[in-house]
Amino acid sequence: MFRTSICDLFGIEHPIVLAGMGQASTPELAAAVSNAGGLGVLGAASAGPRQLREWIHRTRALTDKPFGVDTLLPASVRRGASLKAPSNGPLPKDLVPEYQAFATEFLKGQGIAPADPKDIWPEPDGPAMLSKEFFEAQMDVIIEEKVAVYASGLGSPQPWMERLKANGTKVICVVGTVRHALQVVPVGIDAVVAQGHDGGGHNSPIGTLALIPQVVDAVGDKVPVLGAGGISDGRGIAAAMMLGASGVWIGSAFLASEEAGILPGQKQAIVEANEEGTTVSRSVTGKPARMIKSKWTQLWNESENEPLPMPYQSQVSRPALISANLAGRSQDVNPGFAGQGIGMIKAVRPAAVIMADLVEGADRVLRERMAALAR
Ligand SMILES: Cc1cc2nc3c(=O)[nH]c(=O)nc-3n(C[C@H](O)[C@H](O)[C@H](O)COP(=O)(O)O)c2cc1C
Repeated sequence: MFRTSICDLFGIEHPIVLAGMGQASTPELAAAVSNAGGLGVLGAASAGPRQLREWIHRTRALTDKPFGVDTLLPASVRRGASLKAPSNGPLPKDLVPEYQAFATEFLKGQGIAPADPKDIWPEPDGPAMLSKEFFEAQMDVIIEEKVAVYASGLGSPQPWMERLKANGTKVICVVGTVRHALQVVPVGIDAVVAQGHDGGGHNSPIGTLALIPQVVDAVGDKVPVLGAGGISDGRGIAAAMMLGASGVWIGSAFLASEEAGILPGQKQAIVEANEEGTTVSRSVTGKPARMIKSKWTQLWNESENEPLPMPYQSQVSRPALISANLAGRSQDVNPGFAGQGIGMIKAVRPAAVIMADLVEGADRVLRERMAALAR
């Protein structure tokens, strides 16, 4: 496949980067993508410091190629903004018990037994999940382990840039607007991911086709841009390149891999879904995220409950979603995050096969379409 500046920046063969998908982008998946010539990125958003270090060591045992680590750095949590009361309403944390009662009723209505609290809230691995201290503990591990690439999925890595740069770590930021790209590029990052509305997970209001060229116009003369969101085969890669991207950041296409850390029912939900199978909902983390439509997203919408800000909404959704997983009901209750490209995914395959298809498909489309258009 063609090489771009991204290949030299990360020391890889193909300009294809595995998106850091929380818990789904495992050491096995990241290593498989790196071994196939792309850049594997660990989805470490919810990994406590001990698990994160173990994942980094495990990935190093599976590949001698470069790989990255992705975490979230939500500005609101780091500033403590979500702990403040809205101007006249109750504190979000005071609404948690009432909303948890909704989750309990939901489970009853679905005929799902509530899981043991020990399974829902396992021994914390370090500070409380998604707290300011949790993000800081993750960053300490990333710096101590001198990872090759760090990706910030939400927010700015600015407070850590000096230490990351001293280690030679390349830094990527995922952005969903030109405004955010203009905020993070001056802190000295090495690449941005322009992730459009089509993509799985935390979500931009701007469609991928419109977002990529506008981010390229705004910052493309300073850093390379990776296109993301709804890119699930070689045609999407070729299109992103035509829009000015130097590479791609692909999530959902790798979720339906043997190595992805999601449940079999969740992989099946991807294979069975069509292009209408996803929705953008705040019902899981409190921030808008694209996910596969489910009983949880449907009944949450019908309840008209206003989702709580991060990190409180997870305290409401987690008991319901984990209980569904343990009851073997992930497919209809907790199929998980995914992008609109899942209608193109027809089977669960090894990540190396998916990589080979992406590389071959992009090459072929670029060659054949250009030749056909020239005729
Ligand atoms: C299951 C899943 C989990 C995700 N978790 C994260 C995450 O933890 N951190 C992050 O930066 N992005 C996360 N994302 C977003 C991806 O990094 C990426 O931007 C997105 O998957 C691209 O769109 P696509 O799924 O259509 O390829 C997640 C996406 C999915 C599908």
